[in-house]
Amino acid sequence: MLLFLIGFMGCGKSYTAKHLAPLLQIPYLDMDKEIEKAEHQSIAEIFHKKGEPYFRELEHVFIQELDKDAQFIISTGGGAPCFYNNMDLMNEKGLTIYLNRNKQDVIDRLLRGQYKRPLIADFSREELEKFYDSKLQDRKVFYEQAKLFAYDQTTEELAQQIEIYLQKN
Ligand code: S3P
Repeated sequence: MLLFLIGFMGCGKSYTAKHLAPLLQIPYLDMDKEIEKAEHQSIAEIFHKKGEPYFRELEHVFIQELDKDAQFIISTGGGAPCFYNNMDLMNEKGLTIYLNRNKQDVIDRLLRGQYKRPLIADFSREELEKFYDSKLQDRKVFYEQAKLFAYDQTTEELAQQIEIYLQKN
């Protein structure tokens, strides 16, 4: 079973995947970290040296190559569902879960980890808030194709929600 955690950057996908893993007894993978390992460079370096389209292709190939019979909780990059047919592929291969968090928490987290994220690296708080509003508006249409939605939930609550969903489906 593949579980995909999707959602805007800073909503806690990596943290949630890591903490869901022992609760559901499924190992986790961080898509960005796997790409960094394979390319021997950070996401910021990939963006700067090879450009965003190259990075988007790496995300797409990563999703394409996943074996749907494998067992992983995968935290995806915030843009991954919005390029190519990635959202359809993820929905075909496993259970997609849209993580969403209140805006202020997301903005605070993003301000703390800005250097890691090339799309927002130079923004002030005000610019970041504007970026968040317009980007989320564009991306929502993809995120909302997920099979499960989680808003401001604890990892334990989400684990329960997933177990109930899997029992019914
Ligand atoms: C991106 C989100 C990042 C990373 C890259 C681009 C995006 O992942 O993949 O910087 O387009 O939203 P996180 O969502 O883990 O920050």
